[in-house]
Amino acid sequence: MREGTATLIRREDYCAPAFWIRTVDLTFDLDPAKTLVTSKMQLERNAAVAHGALRLHGEELNVLRVLINGESVSFRQEGHELIIDNVPDADFALEIRNTCAPDKNTALSGLYTSGGSFFTQCEAEGFRRITYFLDRPDVMAIYTVLLRADKAKFPVLLSNGNLLDSGDLDNGRHFAKWHDPFPKPSYLFALVAGDLVAREQRVRTRAGKDHLLQVFVRRGDLEKTEHAMNSLIASIVWDEARFGLPLDLERFMVVGVSDFNMGAMENKGLNIFNTSALLASPATATDADFARIESIVAHEYFHNWTGNRVTCRDWFQLSLKEGLTVFRDQEFSMDMAGGASARAVCRIQDVRALRASQFPEDSGAMAHPVRPDTFVEINNFYTPTVYEKGSEVVRMYQTLVGRAGFEKGLKLYFERHDGQAVTCDDFAAAIAAANPGSALSTRLDNFKRWYSQAGTPRVQARGVYDAAAQTYTLTLKQHNPATPGQEHKLPQVIPVALGLLSAEGQALPLQLQGEDQAAGLERVIVLDEAEQSFVFTNLASQPVPSLLRGFSAPVVLDDGLSDADLLVLLQHDADAFNRWEASQRLALNRILAAVRSGSALQLDSAFIEAMRAVLRHPELDAAFKDLALTLPGEGYIAEQLEVVDPQAIHAAVEAARSQLAQALREDWIEAFEANQIQGGYTPDPVSSGKRALANLALSMLVLDAARSGDTVWPGRAYQRFKDAGNMTERLGALSALVNAHAELAEPALARFHELFKDDALVIDKWFALQGRTPELDGKSFARVKQLTQHPDFTLKNPNRARSLISSLCMFNPAAFHRADAAGYVFWAEQVLALDAINPQIASRLARAMDRWTTLAQPYRSAALEAIRRVAAKPDLSSDVREVIDRALE
Ligand code: ARG
Ligand code: ZN
Repeated sequence: MREGTATLIRREDYCAPAFWIRTVDLTFDLDPAKTLVTSKMQLERNAAVAHGALRLHGEELNVLRVLINGESVSFRQEGHELIIDNVPDADFALEIRNTCAPDKNTALSGLYTSGGSFFTQCEAEGFRRITYFLDRPDVMAIYTVLLRADKAKFPVLLSNGNLLDSGDLDNGRHFAKWHDPFPKPSYLFALVAGDLVAREQRVRTRAGKDHLLQVFVRRGDLEKTEHAMNSLIASIVWDEARFGLPLDLERFMVVGVSDFNMGAMENKGLNIFNTSALLASPATATDADFARIESIVAHEYFHNWTGNRVTCRDWFQLSLKEGLTVFRDQEFSMDMAGGASARAVCRIQDVRALRASQFPEDSGAMAHPVRPDTFVEINNFYTPTVYEKGSEVVRMYQTLVGRAGFEKGLKLYFERHDGQAVTCDDFAAAIAAANPGSALSTRLDNFKRWYSQAGTPRVQARGVYDAAAQTYTLTLKQHNPATPGQEHKLPQVIPVALGLLSAEGQALPLQLQGEDQAAGLERVIVLDEAEQSFVFTNLASQPVPSLLRGFSAPVVLDDGLSDADLLVLLQHDADAFNRWEASQRLALNRILAAVRSGSALQLDSAFIEAMRAVLRHPELDAAFKDLALTLPGEGYIAEQLEVVDPQAIHAAVEAARSQLAQALREDWIEAFEANQIQGGYTPDPVSSGKRALANLALSMLVLDAARSGDTVWPGRAYQRFKDAGNMTERLGALSALVNAHAELAEPALARFHELFKDDALVIDKWFALQGRTPELDGKSFARVKQLTQHPDFTLKNPNRARSLISSLCMFNPAAFHRADAAGYVFWAEQVLALDAINPQIASRLARAMDRWTTLAQPYRSAALEAIRRVAAKPDLSSDVREVIDRALE
């Protein structure tokens, strides 16, 4: 099945294709065991490229015939290529007939079956598993697709674009013919065939055009599609209002599938979604699920312009569409959230996710720039760096040219490049050209280092107050640590949004030396050299700096602030993000001190009182309180340490949690009572925030009960679990019991399973909760091992595999990193087992070992041994091979 040695692909080797494919007519005779594909293409030599043979991509296909201008021609097959040496100079018609085997396709790339229906996933290189093609994003063609299948089994036949015709055929079969008027790369092709039902909605856009929106799912899931449909409508309205980008198709379809490698896919006019990113009802989905669905529906819809109308020239440019589209979905979620505080909560959650996933990537074995220079397997580069850091880069453009300037820039980008496959440089050039003289345009070359240099820059900030001169000199230094293959880095452009506060917490006017007057209470200064100083004048006393407000650049900031300074920010900063940041820093300082000194953590009253003040604050939103009172994650804490002992970190965090639970017991009770919601469920930010804080309070109360022996709160949690009217509260109560290892956890888990045994997405939650249970005496790890034998467990379904295995290996450090190495042995077994089924999912799991070199002994040696065990397997997929090779470099 796997052939050849994996080759390294380099960005600098990019060559335009020797041929263009202008149109393609596809006919599918769909059969799960053996599907027949007929592809008729119109080709044209690319005059700009020296003549050569026609080399088409194809994998795991069975070729039946190849015709040029109706005549059969000779061809050769080499590895994953079909080569035709003699092709006419003039434009010509190429016809290929081949078969593929959807039922055997467990990799879920190309054409496959799930639950008896057909689905496709073509990004990045899945189309070549359907038929032979120039499967690269810079070859854009107009597609016409004829689908033929058994009518009873596959009553719904969908592909991209508009339905031209449909009807019955002989032998109980039927057909549908689709045409997509927009030229597109093959990765945006899609088809779906199956027994599905749709929620439909007609909408009229600003231009007065009517559109049909459809959400297709399995029978029985229809009532769980209302939220997705609402999210889609909101996305359409938002993209027109904010960026002037309308829906360009008469029909826009969304389809859910249970077996899917990622969240969703933006195929032109036919988005395909993992059901986990689509289906929601109050009884089965949490507030977080509702928010995630809204953002993924928006993300895929926004790709219609940023990705589809303008696509990527090559896969190194992936962030061109992904970073930009994540930025757009984050902006959308913030606008949907409403007021300033709810927007800040969105921002905090995004930054927390960035730090939890992208920062470790940037300092680990797989570190790569936002625009990578090399890859073996492109599927390994759908990463937090390309997506989330890429989004931060786009956000910095907006910070540097302003919101209006950014909108102008995007407009110019579409004027220049609509219908083209372009590069990150083209994007940068458009934003800069639309904003001449701006803070971006004057530093464009330097700014673009964000695309070429991997690693998270470190910024050190130190202020010196001169009482006599009434000046405050802020000196900023930047340094970007070495990453694999990049020893020395150049300074980057780092926009630092800031404010200054008096010791009493008052916002101070900001006047830089040389200016006639102060310019507001917040401004953005730009660090673009290794070291720069900024002198603020007219300051009557020593200020407390609030730096990097709203997380204005994806860097690690060392501002040297004391606890006293942090307490001022926590109480008074006008920037809610930095208020939250202060809470996290106060907690982090204490946890790190305990871990570094090897002593037991003992929270001081200053910290406890600060947390109490947040919890009791009359004006702060519940959502903010929840975030401020949630301790930093163990993974993020590990990132602060040169040598990582996961058990020591876990012990410190557990101590901090239990002391906060005990010291604030009365406050938790009050928070729990004060944040009950009467009436029906809505997933709006205010209600979600209240439920989040009530859930946190409940978890603290149940945790404290485990210490004190109290039975009241576990009992109340169990009652709430039983009676809950929605999944957020039900899962919150269940988690409180499970995470505290309470006695009532067992009956609650059993009851939960019984209640939801027919709902796969909820059973995923059941597995995930147990996979992530904080470790206590090895029980959590033992539980996971045992659950791999559960009748509901399977590695074949990506959601299920992730819910148990990834939960343990990637999100439960103390259960995973064991002195006896059993966690690593388990990891190696699962990676190998998964690799035989689905290399993309295996490769994601393989990355649990990205940061093994920072582990303390005995973990480090044991981790290396496990990695070597995986490496020793001769026929690893190129996906896993690349990750493992990089880990061993
Ligand atoms: N483009 C899809 C998205 O919106 C994801 C595709 C991921 N593909 C992959 N091979 N991992 O973001
Ligand atoms: Zn995307």
